[in-house]
Amino acid sequence: MTTSDVPPLVQLLIFGGGGDLARRKLVPAVLRLARAGLPAAGLQVVAVGRRPLGDDAFRSDLRGALPADLAPAFDRIAHDVHYRSADVGDLASLEGLRAEVDALAGRREVGRLCYLALKPSLFGPAVALLRAAGIVHRHDHEGGGFRRVVIEKPFGHDLASARALNDAVHRELSEHQLLRIDHYLGKETVQNLLGLRFHNAIFEPVWSRHHVELVQITVAETIGVEAGRAAYYDGTGALRDVVQNHMLQVLALVAMEPPTSLDADAIRNPKVELLRALHAPDREDAARHGVRARYTAARAGATVVPGYLDEDGVDPDSSTETYVALRAEIDNWRWRGVPFLLRHGKRMPKRFTEVQVQFRMPPVQLFNRPDDMSEAAFHRAVRDGTLCQIRPNVLSIGIQPDERIGLSFGVKRPGPEMVMAPAALSFDYREHFRVEPGEAYERLLLDAIHGDATLFLRADEIEASWAWCDAMRNAWSDPGAVPLREYAAGTWGPPEADALFHGCEGGWSRG
Ligand code: BG6
Repeated sequence: MTTSDVPPLVQLLIFGGGGDLARRKLVPAVLRLARAGLPAAGLQVVAVGRRPLGDDAFRSDLRGALPADLAPAFDRIAHDVHYRSADVGDLASLEGLRAEVDALAGRREVGRLCYLALKPSLFGPAVALLRAAGIVHRHDHEGGGFRRVVIEKPFGHDLASARALNDAVHRELSEHQLLRIDHYLGKETVQNLLGLRFHNAIFEPVWSRHHVELVQITVAETIGVEAGRAAYYDGTGALRDVVQNHMLQVLALVAMEPPTSLDADAIRNPKVELLRALHAPDREDAARHGVRARYTAARAGATVVPGYLDEDGVDPDSSTETYVALRAEIDNWRWRGVPFLLRHGKRMPKRFTEVQVQFRMPPVQLFNRPDDMSEAAFHRAVRDGTLCQIRPNVLSIGIQPDERIGLSFGVKRPGPEMVMAPAALSFDYREHFRVEPGEAYERLLLDAIHGDATLFLRADEIEASWAWCDAMRNAWSDPGAVPLREYAAGTWGPPEADALFHGCEGGWSRG
């Protein structure tokens, strides 16, 4: 991974700096980095919001909102945390801001990272005005340190709007100045998908349709629609909120061809190729390979969990899904015919994100035939997966909250008979390294400062993901093609999702 020269001072300008993302994620990430002495350059944080507020009032609000363990780090760097009031929709206001941030930098050469924690509809116009005001300019290092813009998801709500946004920001800045965040890529375990596959030579020879029967990827959440998010979520739904970005990124890392180096584009090129090879579903594929549903009210102990339609701010006539299960296919030599089963839902019984790579059964089954079963019946039972003691090898990669890797296999059970029993090898990040896995935003902020775009999304990756999602949604929009089903809050989703395994062994993981 590459890093560019970092000037003596880095200014992190957070637009929308009075908001939740800044308080909950960005400032804590800066403080954890500061605790570790990072970045090596000096760092000034300038939160930019519309509310008129002085530095002191902002600092004391912020300090009150931070977890207690971060207070000492905050006190050490508080003098470098500022608040400036400006309107990102107003050129004169941004010109004023530019003068103020220039003054804060003094005579030092400054690298500037503009973090847009804003409403998505403001991304394009804000980038144009930031450039017009001279806060950023078209090329890094033109008259000073770098100028970069970090954009949070969502990048559009379909292919057309994503293209329009990409065109708008490309009119102002070069692609290498744009860092589009998908916070999943900042997770240690997601990064480790590359490490696991390409550092360990044992996996590559079996990583294809010749040995893999299916891959399943789950992002299960116990939360419903969080307070204040209903308006966004109801216009978005599970497919666009999590599958289009986080899950397709994980899928791309699991299935991409090996990169030739760790340079950003050496990794992003094969990811784009993979995303473009996703089979675009037509109406019939979508009906056979897609299940969508929303949660209904349920009782959990003494409390009643509201159904999706009763959540505050959700349109009572909404047809938005909070759960999707999909069978994706990849049209390339490596994966043709291998189902990639993707499942994401809110209000499920357990929070976990996991990848399971399930390998094919041995072509001939030698072990564990019950005494009273004929050979033919045995082979049939093995093929249909009804003999539960005979299981395929599964490599499970726990992304969160149990960060682990496990491989299931069979071993001979002790005793006079030749009977195989299931066993597993397992590795646990916390136990092994005796540390908590780092927070995604720490890594992403540091990479953004260093200009390492590996973990950020390129314009064409986003467009390729949207193209597939749009195909799925177009098929859904056909009345009756993929009905919106229901599942009680706290359950595993509608039973129809089990049918996505057709022709394969196994069922959905329960984490
Ligand atoms: C966000 C989605 O991008 O990712 C949320 O908008 C979702 O709806 C969240 O809950 C999941 O992220 P994490 O890191 O908590 O798994």
